Amino acid sequence: MNRKTAIITGSSSGFGLLCAIELARNGFQVIGTMRNVDKAVTLLERANERNVSEFIKVFPLDVTSSESINDLKNYLREFHSIDILVNNAGFAVGGFCEELSIEDYRKQFETNFFGIIEVTQMVLPFMRANRHGRVINMSSISGRMGFPGLSAYSSSKYALEGFSESLRLEVKPFGIDVVLVEPGSYATNIWSGVETIKINQDSPYQSYLKGIKCEIETGKKDHGDPQDVAQLVAQIATQTKSPDLRYPIGKGVKKNLLLKNMLPWKMIEDVILKRIHN
Ligand SMILES: NC(=O)c1ccc[n+]([C@@H]2O[C@H](COP(=O)([O-])OP(=O)(O)OC[C@H]3O[C@@H](n4cnc5c(N)ncnc54)[C@H](OP(=O)(O)O)[C@@H]3O)[C@@H](O)[C@H]2O)c1
Repeated sequence: MNRKTAIITGSSSGFGLLCAIELARNGFQVIGTMRNVDKAVTLLERANERNVSEFIKVFPLDVTSSESINDLKNYLREFHSIDILVNNAGFAVGGFCEELSIEDYRKQFETNFFGIIEVTQMVLPFMRANRHGRVINMSSISGRMGFPGLSAYSSSKYALEGFSESLRLEVKPFGIDVVLVEPGSYATNIWSGVETIKINQDSPYQSYLKGIKCEIETGKKDHGDPQDVAQLVAQIATQTKSPDLRYPIGKGVKKNLLLKNMLPWKMIEDVILKRIHN
């Protein structure tokens, strides 16, 4: 029997790697894409341990390269259907607006936003041909709430949220669902971009950065297990009923979103700024 096909971007580590294994365990033929296929060793070893390596094909994909996306398009013609796209690839630029270059912002958007659009544009015709498919976009709590030192990352995720809301309405009549997964903080490599925020010696943001780094350090004990996010993605991919638009996940995430909707923003910013500058 033909397995349904799932494509995942950024499956060399973190959520992407775990999603590849979880979707293979849930009956999918997985195309685990990554920009450097030399990194596939970990994914394939972990898949082997779970007896699903035969259901994972690794394919090179840099989501910022149109050429690379086109190569994937040609490869997809071998599959009888494309059922799931997990737009997971991403990274986090940390730093204060005044101290980042416009190039930093552009790079952040190239991967976290424009990359997702181009991969999705390539995959949609395959899904439309079968009048069936799910596009699962890895957003973040940062796509619903801003945080100082994360304006590049947060704005890229807010843009993804708006894109996904609109796209969902466009493709629903063709049997395609668009979904946003909104994790809080999880133990993956994503934090390296934030932990290494560069700042000038005489920067007015010196003490600010100290507060943020302290906040990140304290928050680590509450980091979730990334496997929970992979299981959520597998659940969204396999459920028979039409999925919701948003799936917030992680410690305190639903509570924070509720508070943000209920309280005046001024109260929320007081709490955040007090925590950082105490
Ligand atoms: N961890 C969290 O707390 C958290 C919370 C909310 C949302 N997220 C989101 O979850 C997604 C996955 O991140 P993660 O936490 O699993 O971190 P991660 O372990 O650093 O994984 C990021 C993945 O994206 C890939 N990637 C980066 N740029 C790429 C590009 N141009 N083309 C293709 N792949 C690229 C990386 O590949 P390389 O190995 O080549 O670098 C890596 O496989 C991201 O979209 C992130 O924003 C994470």
